[in-house]
Amino acid sequence: MKYLTYKNKDQMPMLGLGTWKSQPGEVYEAVKTAIEVGYCHIDCAPIYGNEAEIGEALNEVISSGIVSREELWITSKLWNGDHEPHEVKPALEKTLKDLQIEYLDLFLMHWPVALKKGSKIPLEPENFFSLEEVPISATWKAMETLVDDSLVKHIGVSNFSASKIEKLLETARIKPEMNQVESHPYLQQKELKSFCDEHGIFMTAYSPLGSGDRAPLLKSENEPQLFENQEIIKIADAKGVTPAQVLISWAINRGTVVIPKSTNPVRIQQNLESKDIELSAEEMQTIEGLELGFRFLSGDIWVGEGSPHTLESLWG
Ligand code: A2P
Repeated sequence: MKYLTYKNKDQMPMLGLGTWKSQPGEVYEAVKTAIEVGYCHIDCAPIYGNEAEIGEALNEVISSGIVSREELWITSKLWNGDHEPHEVKPALEKTLKDLQIEYLDLFLMHWPVALKKGSKIPLEPENFFSLEEVPISATWKAMETLVDDSLVKHIGVSNFSASKIEKLLETARIKPEMNQVESHPYLQQKELKSFCDEHGIFMTAYSPLGSGDRAPLLKSENEPQLFENQEIIKIADAKGVTPAQVLISWAINRGTVVIPKSTNPVRIQQNLESKDIELSAEEMQTIEGLELGFRFLSGDIWVGEGSPHTLESLWG
C-alpha cells in the first residue's frame, strides 16, 4: 500500500473503500470483506445513510482482532445541514456513535453549501442559508475545536475550488489538509491539484470509476463512459488488468488518494489489487490526454430557486 504522510507523520492509505451508494443491507458485508482482504481506509459520510451499519462492521473487525482501530484510517464528513457552528460538534458525535469509534482520522466539510437543518433533497427555496448567514469560516472554526478536543485528527474540505480554499486560508487557524473532489480521466482537476500541491493540501479523488450507480436525479443524458474508453481498454488489455484497475492505479500514480466504491466481494478485491499496478510515463501521458472537463456530479442540486449559489460560484 502507498501512503501519504501528513505533517504530524500520520500516514493515510492512498486507496480506500468508498461507501457512497453502498446500500444498507450490503455495506456491512462490503466493509467487513474489504478489511479482511487488506483495506485499511474507509471513506464515509452521514448523508450516505449507512454509517450505523458501517459501525457494526468496524466493531466486528476490531473486536475480533482482525485489525486494530489504530491500523484503520476512517474519514467522515460534515453534512450541509449541520454548518451552523453549534451543530458541528453534535453532528460529529452522532457520526462517531454510529461508526462505533472514539475519533476520526479525517473530518471533511462535505460541500461549501450551508442548508437549514433537516433539509431534504430535492431542496425547497427556503432550505438555503446565505453565505453571510452561515459563513464557511464560522463552520471551519467549529471544526477546528474538534481537533483541539482530539475528536478528529485532521480536518479538510470537499468539493472546494482553489478560490474557496484561498478564502478559507485567510481566517483558518488550522489549515485544511485535504480536499476531496470528483476526479477521473475526464475531470483530472489538474489546476486544482497544482494549487493544492503548492499549499501542502492533499487531494482525494471521488467517483474515480464514474459512479455509474448514481440515482437518476444525479445523471445526465449521454454521459461519457470511462469503462468504454478505448485508450483505457487498450492499456488494461496490454497489462492484463481491468479498466477499473487502470483508473484506480492512475489516480494513485499521480499522487491522489482514491476511494472506489464497491459492494461486490470480487470487485472489492480486484480494486485493492490496483495498488500494485505501475503505469508507464507513456500510459500516464495517454490518460492525461483524455481530459474532457466533464463532471458526473454537476452540482446542480445546489443551485436554483432560493439558492445563493450558481454553478459558476460553486466551482469557480
Ligand atoms: P459494485 O458496487 O456493484 O461493484 P465510483 O467508485 O466511481 O462511485 O463507482 C462505483 C460504481 O462502479 C458502482 O456501480 C460499482 O458497482 C462499480 N464498480 C466498482 N468496482 C468495479 C470494478 N472493478 N469493475 C466494474 N465496476 C466496478
